[in-house]
Amino acid sequence: MDKLELEKYIPIESLTGDSYPVTDTSKKLYVETYGCQMNFADTEIVNGIMGKSGYDITDNIDDSAIILINTCSIREMAEARVLQRLTEIKKYKKKNPKLVVGIIGCMAERLKRDLVTKKGVVDLVLGPDEYRKLPSLIDNLIDTGEKGIAVKLSRVETYDDILPIRKEGISAWLSIMRGCDKFCSFCVVPYTRGRERSRPLEGVIREVKQLRDEGFKDVTLLGQNVNSYISEKFDFADLLEACAMAVPDIRLRFTTSHPQDLSLKLIETIAKYDNLCNYIHLPVQSGSDRVLELMQRSYTIEHYMKIMDNIKRLIPDVSLSTDIITGFCTETEEDHKMTLEVMKEVRYDGAYMFKYSPREKTKAWKMEDDVDEEIKTRRLVEIVELQRDISEEKNRETVGKEYEVIIEGISKKSDKMLFGRTDGNKTVIIPLSDAKPGDKLMVKINRANSATLFGEAVTVN
Ligand code: 5AD
Ligand code: SF4
Repeated sequence: MDKLELEKYIPIESLTGDSYPVTDTSKKLYVETYGCQMNFADTEIVNGIMGKSGYDITDNIDDSAIILINTCSIREMAEARVLQRLTEIKKYKKKNPKLVVGIIGCMAERLKRDLVTKKGVVDLVLGPDEYRKLPSLIDNLIDTGEKGIAVKLSRVETYDDILPIRKEGISAWLSIMRGCDKFCSFCVVPYTRGRERSRPLEGVIREVKQLRDEGFKDVTLLGQNVNSYISEKFDFADLLEACAMAVPDIRLRFTTSHPQDLSLKLIETIAKYDNLCNYIHLPVQSGSDRVLELMQRSYTIEHYMKIMDNIKRLIPDVSLSTDIITGFCTETEEDHKMTLEVMKEVRYDGAYMFKYSPREKTKAWKMEDDVDEEIKTRRLVEIVELQRDISEEKNRETVGKEYEVIIEGISKKSDKMLFGRTDGNKTVIIPLSDAKPGDKLMVKINRANSATLFGEAVTVN
């Protein structure tokens, strides 16, 4: 698509945030978020919806009249943590019987009414497509004492018109689509988040410009599978290009991708624009074609490697990361070694690695979870250690080179240091100076470990 055609879709004006006066102290809302970045972005949407209805967002749970827990169902552990948290929250309800407690997000969608019947402390249960109903269900609960349950999945809801309330900062999440139609056999997301649907391109551009106007410098476009984004005739590469042109001074990244749909056009688009970060997260899940087939991932390692080769060829200096599941049903030692081989061949800068956790409703739920827990753990340790070594090697290769770093703030480990991020998503620590969050500095790297680069500023832009 040519530039002029895309520009037609870029509105001149950004939406400005309305302000909502808040006087009622019983309207203090506290939201606790678990899980993926999509959930963190959803919490900002929930805050937007609630802010509009006169609720005041607080970071202090002791102050709150309403506690919402935005939950994750991806692995059993994620759910167990929330259930544990609910038992702690009981003490707040004891202190204040009027306190409203809600479970929202994936666990709400999965467990539905059970959350209310089995967990007495829960007053509200809302799935990911029902957040607009929050204010009315809360009003109804307060008026009638009736617990609120709303768990319908939608084919159209994208919250495009909702203005998320974000914390001030340098980086922001921007949700561009919802749901997933991939149905990987291990994954509960298609059941908890429903069918894929994309926001209109104009809405995304409007929001990215607004984020620029609010001072954000690094924006991540979010979706369960951004490569299936479609708005009229525009695909994800078109959207990315339109964003790159709309906010040339803002770094843009995206997550997450599926190898079946990551197009050459997308790689070429990233290569073409300086503000599209040279960073791609492409989950491989397993190095064995046999396991990939059982996982219903719809690609082979050969196909995956071809994409990786194209990425490396067209985007030199690219940073790569992945997701890996270890101990999936029937995984043999041989399959596991194939995963280690893929890791060595691709040389990822980073990886998110998990033990397989069976989830009800999924196809794999009916397969036997036949890899012993100790074997899963041992294999996980092996991939984690291998990845640490590779990350360290790759980070050491940066020593002596210069990178553009956007400063994010004071280092959490030392108040004499600043931290920032490179275009490749690596954390960099530099000595404290008069640089402020949001400043772009050229930094020369002096040393590195598997997680962090350490350097010093050479020039200020
Ligand atoms: N068990 C373990 N890991 C899982 N993931 C998704 N479902 C499961 C599961 N049942 C991982 C995948 C996915 C990431 C977001 O979470 O690696 O890419
Ligand atoms: Fe789950 Fe697969 Fe969809 Fe990712 S692509 S959310 S792993 S079903």
